[in-house]
Amino acid sequence: MRLIFLGPPGAGKGTQAARVCRHFGLMHIATGDILRRAATQETEVGRKVKALMDAGDLVPDEITNEVVAGAIALPEAAKGFVLDGYPRNMFQSAALELSLGEIGARLDKVLRFMVKGDELVARMAGRRICPKDGEVYHITARPPKVVGICDTDGTPLVQREDDSEQAVRHRLQVYGEKTKPLIDFYGKMGLVVDLDAMGTADDVFDRIIAALASA
Ligand code: AP5
Repeated sequence: MRLIFLGPPGAGKGTQAARVCRHFGLMHIATGDILRRAATQETEVGRKVKALMDAGDLVPDEITNEVVAGAIALPEAAKGFVLDGYPRNMFQSAALELSLGEIGARLDKVLRFMVKGDELVARMAGRRICPKDGEVYHITARPPKVVGICDTDGTPLVQREDDSEQAVRHRLQVYGEKTKPLIDFYGKMGLVVDLDAMGTADDVFDRIIAALASA
């Protein structure tokens, strides 16, 4: 099964992609996570990626396209994958079509996460991440066992730089201008499934499983 999770920042794509991949044994390809790791490198590219991400701007297509083309060609992706955060504009969707063609694969579904604006802001404002292992928490919806501490490795949790009010506003604008048009693109291909992504993470997961079973 080859899926794209498409939706605005904070919609819960990463949370659900991790669960769906565990459930079906798929590869989770999250460009945001890959780029966050790249941004910790003290190199020219690392610093450039960090500055763009912190401001809520997109990283250049040639970087993300290369990352994804490499990932989907890996043996671990042979059983299928979830693309989480990619593609994010029309150039990336065109590059993805080429990369899929090279490995003789095609997409099965594009799940469109639908969440109300005030809920998106609440999810991002309450998000905390472990800077060491990347685990994602939420102060109320998914709190760690000890406040502010990662359950797995005891590292103090942090807020993402791009979860600041200013960056969130900009990310939502970038999503509307550049990523949202992909809904039409994949809609014309008959791939889009609208997903009500409000409610608890368990509710949303159950809806995804039902949507994939009936698709
Ligand atoms: P990326 O990391 O992909 O960020 P995003 O798409 O903006 O999405 P988020 O990670 O903010 O949200 P999510 O939908 O995954 O929600 P989550 O599950 O975490 O990208 C970051 C940056 O990297 C981009 O701005 C760009 O700079 C760069 N980038 C990445 N890909 C790129 C590309 N292809 N091209 C160019 N640049 C790229 O959930 C959010 C919070 O809500 C969490 O705290 C979670 O615990 C909580 N939560 C989840 N589900 C629920 C629920 N049902 N109820 C209550 N809380 C919930």
